[in-house]
Amino acid sequence: MELPPRLRAGVDQILRDTPIAEIRKAAETLSQRYRGEMRDGRLHLSERAAATAYLATRLPATYAAIRASLAAIADVRPGWTPRTLLDAGAGPGSVLWAARDQWPSIDNATMIEASEEIRLVGDTLTRDAGARTSWVAADIARGLPALDRADLVTLSYVLGELAPAAIKALIERLWALSQDVLLVVEPGTPAGWQRVLAVRDQLIGLGAHVIAPCAHAERCPLTTPDWCHFSQRVARSRTHRLAKDADVPWEDEKFIYLAVSRTPNDAGFARVLARPRVASGAVRLKLCAPDGRLEERLVTKRQGDAYKVARRVDWGDRL
Ligand SMILES: C[S@@+](CC[C@H](N)C(=O)[O-])C[C@H]1O[C@@H](n2cnc3c(N)ncnc32)[C@H](O)[C@@H]1O
Repeated sequence: MELPPRLRAGVDQILRDTPIAEIRKAAETLSQRYRGEMRDGRLHLSERAAATAYLATRLPATYAAIRASLAAIADVRPGWTPRTLLDAGAGPGSVLWAARDQWPSIDNATMIEASEEIRLVGDTLTRDAGARTSWVAADIARGLPALDRADLVTLSYVLGELAPAAIKALIERLWALSQDVLLVVEPGTPAGWQRVLAVRDQLIGLGAHVIAPCAHAERCPLTTPDWCHFSQRVARSRTHRLAKDADVPWEDEKFIYLAVSRTPNDAGFARVLARPRVASGAVRLKLCAPDGRLEERLVTKRQGDAYKVARRVDWGDRL
């Protein structure tokens, strides 16, 4: 997956003015902070260099994860045309670009962000995103200011940066601000999955309907050391490769997401939880079933249409 051309151009313009040695150094610091899941009260993107490194090395991956999560929502909600977006911990505006790509109907966006440096970057980049956009300076861990409700409310790659004690109140408020759908996206690590599971429990308790990726509102059937996550292949730009000393022109971003709504899904489905394993004349699928069970299903050529469908589905798809 690639960034939309106008976003790519805006990012390139900002990166052009920053020496690669500076981006490389800041990228290393940033990835240490992310790997260590540091919650030391400091914002990870508080300096200009960190914000620039985020554009070079993280934005393409978070964009791809968000874009795939939104596509999964559109898949269960065909015909939904949200008009308003509220994004908490907006960073450079990744969600707005992905949301406009999925739903051009979004014409009004409110982006909440505490770091002044990344807010300035996001404000510059999203001027070209095609929606009326306002940026709000606020620390979402200390409570949100008065805001209008929005059709789509999002919190992407933010939970892991917040003090655990702040999360419950924030999720409750974001759900109250959701006119329809609330989407949470996290890195696809076991810790990211655990954070999403806790949010899932809380939201179900608040009366929300889980619409994706889970096929049900029962307990998650996966148990450690397994965990639920998905993957998106992301093209690496030249700057990204130089900043990360990487040879391969792509990376696989692992992510996990949860979408809840005020309206339940119309129809049941099973979710494909891993890359299908194809052998001669058979496909083995790992599925999250609508009754809450984990299912390993073998579909053979003799099953005709079911086999044709099984050959087509991929990790993350709905069956
Ligand atoms: C990893 S970035 C994610 C940015 C964007 N949502 C994305 O998915 O690409 C996390 C963002 O959350 C912001 N953030 C972290 N803690 C915050 C807080 N307490 N209040 C507001 N923003 C916060 C950071 O400044 C950063 O921009």
